[in-house]
Amino acid sequence: MKSRRCHRNQLLFTFLLFFSQKTELLTAEAFTGTYGINYGRIADNIPSPDEVATLLRAAKIRNVRIYDADHSVLEAFSGTGLQLVVGLPNGYLKDMSANASQAMSWVEENVQAFLPKTSICGIAVGNEVLGGGDNELWEALLGAVKNVYKAINKLGLADSVQITTSHSQAVFANSYPPSSCIFEENVAQYMKPLLEFFSQIGSPFCLNAYPFLAYTYNPENIDINYALFEKTNGIYDMKTDLHYDNMLDAQIDAAYAALEDAGFKKMEVIVTETGWASRGDDNEAAATVNNARTYNYNLRKRLAKKKGTPLRPKMVVKAYIFAVFNENLKPGPTSERNFGLFKPDGSISYDIGFHGLKSSSADSSLLSLKAVQARGLSKSYILILTISAAASFLFLKQ
Ligand SMILES: *[C@@H]1O[C@H](CO)[C@@H](O)[C@H](O)[C@H]1NC(C)=O
Repeated sequence: MKSRRCHRNQLLFTFLLFFSQKTELLTAEAFTGTYGINYGRIADNIPSPDEVATLLRAAKIRNVRIYDADHSVLEAFSGTGLQLVVGLPNGYLKDMSANASQAMSWVEENVQAFLPKTSICGIAVGNEVLGGGDNELWEALLGAVKNVYKAINKLGLADSVQITTSHSQAVFANSYPPSSCIFEENVAQYMKPLLEFFSQIGSPFCLNAYPFLAYTYNPENIDINYALFEKTNGIYDMKTDLHYDNMLDAQIDAAYAALEDAGFKKMEVIVTETGWASRGDDNEAAATVNNARTYNYNLRKRLAKKKGTPLRPKMVVKAYIFAVFNENLKPGPTSERNFGLFKPDGSISYDIGFHGLKSSSADSSLLSLKAVQARGLSKSYILILTISAAASFLFLKQ
């Protein structure tokens, strides 16, 4: 009798423990569609955040990432319904890791203060830290992630604000064929505890994936059609008996293979950056308007299918495009300043079905846009937006 009761208590205890763990580790989902966009702002000639909010709504792009938590953007996005992921820049990581109260202040001032009118649904803690040049940041990343999560949890926001960090492909070794991909040896010791924590809080693995770069570094050995989602023989992965007809799917499956090898078979991969430059230096021959249009047009179609990859057919591919605008103040090769779907004046860089902020009759319509927005969008204006967006989305059904 006694032992049975004991057993029952133990069961109850186990259940409570399970339950309390569940409630302690609330999880949020930041990416609700399949097509999002990065709103980079390293430029002195791009439209105001209010105009950008109008542009994105007209294009029906709801999921947006910024690289900081600029208050003018957070205010402009208030009441728009845009789902925003804010960034905690790398420069903050050491402080946030060393001092939990700094993480709390940052979250209070840059996230909590704008909720719920601005839909901040995620915080990207650092960008491309592991595999990057600063080893002290590698050390600080997990501590910063934990302190930001603790702050979110304490404020009761853990079920609405998701914590992530994005990785470049520098964290991988052997990404060809996809199934042979593993984490770089020197990265793995930092990556595994990070993945352990993300799996506890239900966060995905965030990947910045650029077929453009892979092709640019290795044009002799890669069919550009494979990188551009065009007709191609593709590649065959002998180990898994899977065929790939485009490079982005292969890059995503390489990440799944590395996660599985590290013991995280169930973790979802989302693409937090991908894109193609429309202009480049002499050694970036693939950076042309035509290739950028082809990549971004085909990518839109690929994402609109809401399908998984060969290795993970049930995990629908989700990606944030890089980026809204060409950014004239970005350092580095010419391609870096030419990833935008839109030019600084708000017109389209090339046609993939989106409409620019201004066609030629421009400035007056911009002014009236702002006036309308100041009053809150009038019904007739919303109708116009809807019709113009619907026209471009007929074939995509997004
Ligand atoms: C942590 O930050 C808070 C507020 O920013 C500051 O008052 C405190 O002295 C810091 N603690 C340490 C250990 O640095």
